Amino acid sequence: MSIPGLHKSFTRKNGVLHAEGVSLEKLAAKHDTPLFVYSRQAIEERCREVTTAFAAPRCRAFFSVKCNGNQSILGLVRKIGLGADIVSGGELFRAKQAGFTGEDIVFAGVGKRDEEIAAALRFRIKSFNVESIPELKKIDKIARKLNRKARISIRVNPDIDAKTHKHITTGTSANKFGLLIKEALKAGALIKGMKGVELNGLHFHIGSQITDPGPFVRTAKYARKCVAEFGRIGLEVRVLNFGGGFGVSYDGRQVTPVSIFARQVLGELAAIDQEVFIEPGRYIAAPSALLLTRVVYRKEAGKRVFLILDSGMNDLIRPVLYQAYHHIEPVRKRPGRKEKVDVVGPICETGDTFARERLLPRLEEGELLALTCAGAYCASMASNYNARPRPAEVLVSGTSAKVIRKRESYKDLVRLES
Ligand code: LLP
Repeated sequence: MSIPGLHKSFTRKNGVLHAEGVSLEKLAAKHDTPLFVYSRQAIEERCREVTTAFAAPRCRAFFSVKCNGNQSILGLVRKIGLGADIVSGGELFRAKQAGFTGEDIVFAGVGKRDEEIAAALRFRIKSFNVESIPELKKIDKIARKLNRKARISIRVNPDIDAKTHKHITTGTSANKFGLLIKEALKAGALIKGMKGVELNGLHFHIGSQITDPGPFVRTAKYARKCVAEFGRIGLEVRVLNFGGGFGVSYDGRQVTPVSIFARQVLGELAAIDQEVFIEPGRYIAAPSALLLTRVVYRKEAGKRVFLILDSGMNDLIRPVLYQAYHHIEPVRKRPGRKEKVDVVGPICETGDTFARERLLPRLEEGELLALTCAGAYCASMASNYNARPRPAEVLVSGTSAKVIRKRESYKDLVRLES
C-alpha cells in the first residue's frame, strides 16, 4: 500500500514507516525531530519521469530552485540533466554552488535588481525571463555596460485562469506577472533596436499545483498565436517556455501524470518546431519528502482533542497560507478506533494548525508522525518565527542517511544580530 502524498520509495515495514531502507524511528532517535526526510530514489525517479515526458532534444526541464534549493537536492537534479529556474541573486548563488553552468540557468521574477542582473550576465545565463518593459531597458543598459548580450524570453501573461489557489495563480491579467500580448509585442519592437539584448523566446507560467491539463493546452495554443504575431513584426521565437505548475497528489487521489500534460502540450505544438522549456518544481520534489515530527502533548479540551506537535507553521507554512491539505501518517501503525483531532503546532497563533478534525488513530505523547508531500515549498519557506531553529534535513539513499542540512542552533538565531 502506498502512503498518500509520498513516492513509493516510502513504505511500511513491520508496521513502521521507512524511507527506502531506513526506519523513521531510527532517524528520529539519531537526528531528533522535527526532521525533513528525503528519498534519493524518489527525486531521481520523479526527475526521470519529467525528462522522459518532455524529452530531449526538443525539450529541456529547469528545476525550480524556489521549491527546494538544498545543495544536495540540486546536485541530484543536476546530475540527471535538468537545469535550474531561479528568481533571485540568492538562487543564482545556490545554483552556481551546486554546479550548474550559465547555460543551465533561466532567471524569472518581477523585481530583478541591478546587481542580480549583472551577476547573471557575468555568469552568462541561458535566458532572462523578462516581466516588464522597465526591466527590459534595465537589462539592456547593464548588458551594454558589461559588454554582454543578454538572451531574453518575454514573459507573456496569457490571461488564462489555471483554476488553482488564488495565491498561486499567476497567468491572469489581474496578476503582477508578465506582459499582456500587446505590451509583449511592444517589448519585442524595442528589442529590435537594442544592442544589449536579443530575443530567444517567450515564457508563460500560469500557476502552480495545476491538475487539469486544459489550461496548459490553452496556453500552448495561445503560444502558437504569439509566435505568429511576433513573426509578423519580424521577430523569430526559438523557445517556448511553459514554466512549472504540474500538480501532485497530497491526499492519495490519482492526479494527471506529467506524461499526459506533455503529450497534450506537445501535440498542440506539433506543427511548429520551437524548443520547449519547462520549469517544474513541486512535481519533482513534493512527494520525495516528509516532515517527521513528534507529539509533545495530547490535550483534551471539552469535546476537542488537540495533538500538539514539536513542529509548527514556521517549518511548514502551507496549511495556514494556502489552506493546503497535508496527509498525516503515524510512523508506527496504530490499530483500533479512529478519533477526530486537531493537529497543531507550538506557535502562538491560532493559524498554526496543520489539520482540523482529522480522523487519526488514538495517538499519545511522544509518538511520531509524518506530514507527507513535504519536499517542495516546505523547508524552503521555513522561518525562525517564535525563535525556533529550523529543522535538520536528511537524504536517504538505500540503507544510509546523510544530513544535508544541519539543525540550526540557538546561536544561529542571533548570529547576524548585534
Ligand atoms: N516557474 C515560475 C516562473 C514560477 O513562478 C514557479 C512557481 C515555478 C516555475 C514552479 O512551479 P511548480 O512546478 O513548483 O508548481 N509556495 C506555493 C507555490 C508557489 C509557486 C511559485 N512559482 C505553494 O506552496 O503551493
